[in-house]
Amino acid sequence: MSRTPLAIANWKMNTDLETARVLAQAARETLDGEPIAVEIAICPPFPWIVPVAGVLEGSAVGLGAQDCSPEPNGAFTGDVSAAMLSPWCAWVLVGHSERRHGHGERDALIRRKLEAVLKEGMQPILCVGELEADRDAGRTAEVVQHQVLAALKGLPASAIARCVVAYEPVWAIGTGRTATAGDAQEVAAQIRALLTSLASEHAAAVRILYGGSVKAGNVASLTAGPDVDGALVGGASLDPAGFAELCRALARPAAA
Ligand code: PGA
Repeated sequence: MSRTPLAIANWKMNTDLETARVLAQAARETLDGEPIAVEIAICPPFPWIVPVAGVLEGSAVGLGAQDCSPEPNGAFTGDVSAAMLSPWCAWVLVGHSERRHGHGERDALIRRKLEAVLKEGMQPILCVGELEADRDAGRTAEVVQHQVLAALKGLPASAIARCVVAYEPVWAIGTGRTATAGDAQEVAAQIRALLTSLASEHAAAVRILYGGSVKAGNVASLTAGPDVDGALVGGASLDPAGFAELCRALARPAAA
């Protein structure tokens, strides 16, 4: 099964409007300027989604959001619904560790957000990953299994087919430390086996990403495993030249 490599840029709460435009323009030139076999999507902060959509108009670069409300509308001050994002975005990050651990988001809420994203016709990027204490205690597989099943079990197979799963060990995010390529592949293979148990006919087509201190210099090795189909990139997505190089390093040779 050949899966197009995917690079997702998560800008988090970074950039001003001008920087956002420059980064989006650079991504567009990377993808539209030369035939490389990679898919790219950018997740800017909410206020930049509409201006970045303008920069990306007519481009193959996709647009995503970093979060959304599970609710369709109503008295939820400060929240943004999936329906508000869907005119602009094809993707939404769900369950990022900075939401799970920084905002106390629990599995049930993440599940509702994921369903809201699907309902509005967008693709959820479900983030899962263990804390350092979990890894030290040998609980990585248990944590990942719990998070994947809590988010996806019971959904129709056709809905699971529209998801991307990003494995991001929490201790590797923004720290400069990464999992080994072997660890990334081992967890990705575990996730694919879980997907097979939930939606056997679609599991081979779902993309599984690695995230956590990915940059141009390590992306090829971190995604070398057969089940690792790309990268979720934070800090390194804020450097236009570096992110372009990362995307090129991720691309499969055109002939493959
Ligand atoms: P990082 O962030 O690349 O800065 O480690 C990754 C992420 O949080 O998705």
